[in-house]
Amino acid sequence: MDSPAGTAQSIIELDGVRKCFGRQVVLDDVTIAFPQNATTAIIGPSGAGKSVLLKHLVGLLYADEGRVSVFGTDMASASTRQLYGIRRRFGMLFQDGALFDSLTVGENVAFPLEHHMPQLSEEERWVKVAEKLGWVGLPGFEKRSISSLSGGQRKRVGLARAIIMEPEVVLFDEPNSGLDPLTSDSIDQLILDMKDRLGITFIIISHDIIGTIKVADYIGMLYEGRLVEYAPTKNFIQSHIPVVRSFLRRNIFGPRDSLNQRKQQAPEQS
Ligand SMILES: Nc1ncnc2c1ncn2[C@@H]1O[C@H](COP(=O)(O)OP(=O)(O)O)[C@@H](O)[C@H]1O
Ligand SMILES: [Mg+2]
Repeated sequence: MDSPAGTAQSIIELDGVRKCFGRQVVLDDVTIAFPQNATTAIIGPSGAGKSVLLKHLVGLLYADEGRVSVFGTDMASASTRQLYGIRRRFGMLFQDGALFDSLTVGENVAFPLEHHMPQLSEEERWVKVAEKLGWVGLPGFEKRSISSLSGGQRKRVGLARAIIMEPEVVLFDEPNSGLDPLTSDSIDQLILDMKDRLGITFIIISHDIIGTIKVADYIGMLYEGRLVEYAPTKNFIQSHIPVVRSFLRRNIFGPRDSLNQRKQQAPEQS
């Protein structure tokens, strides 16, 4: 299947995916290919099926119809061992995947290493943790408690934890949710840095169109479970599809996320 990049290699593909919960159709004939080493964003209103789509990529949910292929493996027939191997290649920041409040920042970031790389010595583990905390702009934060962090800092810790295994793909559900506009900008910048530095393929779910336009190479829009548009960012923002146009209008010029608000508002400590 072609990605909108034409020849860019896609590593994750959904083909005609349908997902229902009871009688509710949440994904309806979704076909999309995510290109490697690019950032793809899926946008759309709340309840459109964005998080549900993301969960199909790592076998947290399975399609009722259609096919999900990840690194060439059909998820429907993947063995437990294959699934484990696939998940190791992903870093995940889910919307509801909170940090553990009872652990320090360093322990939170180290958590995946303890499970996936138990052969590492404690010292090797802490070296990796320190490196990743540096990358996300929180050097020396190992001993801090989660409760002492701002919203933006928590997102950074989540990102450090997601990249600790040096994944090929990072899934990031709502990078900007709950953040003020300037803190959102700093997280967006971090995503750009990570992509350049590590060549990570990012798949981002968002309803924040301004941040999305800045970080994404490709944008797809889900609306009532259907992928109504999917294109390189510069083409996406010129889409003639009415629901895309009205979504863009509402979210760029609407009261909640206006560009002016983003420029004027003071940053949260992040
Ligand atoms: N595990 C689940 N069981 C039943 N319904 C679900 C489940 N997960 C999501 N849904 C429903 O699917 C729809 C899409 O949800 P979601 O993908 O979370 O939306 P969003 O686009 O805001 O991320 C919503 O109506 C939600 O209530
Ligand atoms: Mg969601």
